[in-house]
Amino acid sequence: MTGNGNILIVDDEPNAVKVLSSILSDEGYDVRESLDVDGAVDIILNNDIDAVITDLKMPGRDGMQFFEYVTKNHPDIPVIFLTAYGTVESAVSAMTRGAFYYFIKPPDYPRLKGILARAVEQRCLKREIDNIKNELLKGNNSYRIIGSTSQISDILEICEAVKDSESNVLVSGETGTGKELIALNIHYRSKRYKKPFIAVNCAAIPGELIESELFGHEKGAFTGAASRRIGKFEEASDGTVFLDEIGELGLPLQAKLLRVLQEREIERLGSNKNIKVNFRLITSTNRDLKKEIIEGNFREDLFYRINVVQIDVPPLRERRDDIPLLVTDFLREFCVKANKTISISKEAMDIFMKYSWPGNIRHLRNVIERTVVLARGKKIAAADLPEELIDYKENIKTPVIANTLKELEFHAIKKALDASNGNKSRAAKILGISRKAFYKRLRDYRLI
Ligand SMILES: Nc1ncnc2c1ncn2[C@@H]1O[C@H](COP(=O)(O)OP(=O)(O)OP(=O)(O)O)[C@@H](O)[C@H]1O
Ligand SMILES: [Mg+2]
Repeated sequence: MTGNGNILIVDDEPNAVKVLSSILSDEGYDVRESLDVDGAVDIILNNDIDAVITDLKMPGRDGMQFFEYVTKNHPDIPVIFLTAYGTVESAVSAMTRGAFYYFIKPPDYPRLKGILARAVEQRCLKREIDNIKNELLKGNNSYRIIGSTSQISDILEICEAVKDSESNVLVSGETGTGKELIALNIHYRSKRYKKPFIAVNCAAIPGELIESELFGHEKGAFTGAASRRIGKFEEASDGTVFLDEIGELGLPLQAKLLRVLQEREIERLGSNKNIKVNFRLITSTNRDLKKEIIEGNFREDLFYRINVVQIDVPPLRERRDDIPLLVTDFLREFCVKANKTISISKEAMDIFMKYSWPGNIRHLRNVIERTVVLARGKKIAAADLPEELIDYKENIKTPVIANTLKELEFHAIKKALDASNGNKSRAAKILGISRKAFYKRLRDYRLI
């Protein structure tokens, strides 16, 4: 009889292993045996072990070291200790650190069997929960990239091909085109999906803080560093770091980042200890980094490091055929939220299809959210749409001089965004206003 579970027995005394092994085999377990810890680690790596029974005192690495290895690398595998009288204390202390149970040698076999059955059951439950979680995450619609144009299928194909590779990915595109969504999609469909996804917006964090944000710092590393802090690269541990708007990083930090990518080690500020880090890097930019290299603002060597795989997300106006799908999906989402049933008229859809969408998909999403919230009828008519869209339609037909200051401002902002390829800092410069003032207007006009 087999099939009750895979058990690993570790004991340096061959006889002890033999006796226990035959008892458990009779009980229907598949038993693997090892006389030392090194062999046991090997078995764990190559088999799907459900529970471990280990001796405590062994020459070489002992049971406690093995326990530490299991807790760190396979935390779901329950460990049961067998221990001689003299070592009971260590077994008890292991229990407080998560060991499943301990028995004093020779164990009471019927009880051992009972405890083992519970350990295996716990392991199976954990696995089941994991499976359910996996399914939930995999089917997680929130990271679904909507679109049926060839541009989107190409992007999906690249995402699929690179998701489990270690290659650095650079996602470029205008504001609101879905760069972060693509990064999330890659992470949550990769084998790292259970590990953290850590996003850092390099444009939003003041230059002097970003270094400690990324690398962490020790207590007292600088004025205001009241306690030790873990940086984002450490926090990501085995997950994905998403550096948003990497073009905003200053040259000294670019040099530091390059070193981290080469060495896979970081140093917290105020410390000279190297810490190994494991993460997958995805970066995004809405600047033309090649141009930034020529202008001396971006390191060429860093560019080639982060740009192993490049995904260029085209603006929405270059893939208008995706608009109906997006509209339908967003409409459904916001109707559910607002508990309304609303459809869209053909004239309204026509306007959506013709508009230039300077804020791309985020802009479209916001317009739909706002329209659904404000809608009184069951169908969205052209007149229900925000002025900026309706005006745009009219402007195409008969270009007119904008007749209110607000309209002038709105069109100036859109022109600046177009001229700067969606780069907000540059657009603000073109308009001669501060980034902050520019963002305020973007929000006012619902462009972000
Ligand atoms: N293809 C798509 N399908 C569905 N939703 C999308 C798609 N692309 C973008 N979105 C949605 O549009 C919004 C903006 O996307 P996201 O934040 O990824 O853009 P971004 O390129 O990172 O913008 P920014 O440059 O301003 O940071 C999000 O709500 C995102 O879910
Ligand atoms: Mg973004």
